[in-house]
Amino acid sequence: MDILVGYASSHGSTLEIADRLAVRLGEAGFKTEVRAMETVDDADAYRAFVLGSAVHGQTWLEPAKAFLRDNPDVLGARPVWIFSVGMPGALPGP
Ligand SMILES: Cc1cc2nc3c(=O)[nH]c(=O)nc-3n(C[C@H](O)[C@H](O)[C@H](O)COP(=O)(O)O)c2cc1C
Repeated sequence: MDILVGYASSHGSTLEIADRLAVRLGEAGFKTEVRAMETVDDADAYRAFVLGSAVHGQTWLEPAKAFLRDNPDVLGARPVWIFSVGMPGALPGP
């Protein structure tokens, strides 16, 4: 697989966005694989990464943070694009 579209989702929105991104990347000619980040065994198998997480308590979900922590060398050496999914307008406070 060329590009991992990795996601961490609690209620499904981030998965839906990951699926949509993969469709558009596919239309542009890229091979993609959509996977929950905690199910990725070998990050080295991918040439580039699109990674997204739902935001809970102003931070990414733990599986997404763990994926970044566990793969610094691969992610540091290849193209990475990240996105966050939140609903700040529905939350009180800053
Ligand atoms: C427990 C909880 C905490 C949340 N905290 C934040 C937050 O700090 N900032 C934010 O923008 N959205 C927050 N949200 C909203 C979620 O990010 C939003 O519902 C998002 O769509 C969840 O993505 P998912 O469907 O992939 O899980 C929170 C939602 C929940 C359930």
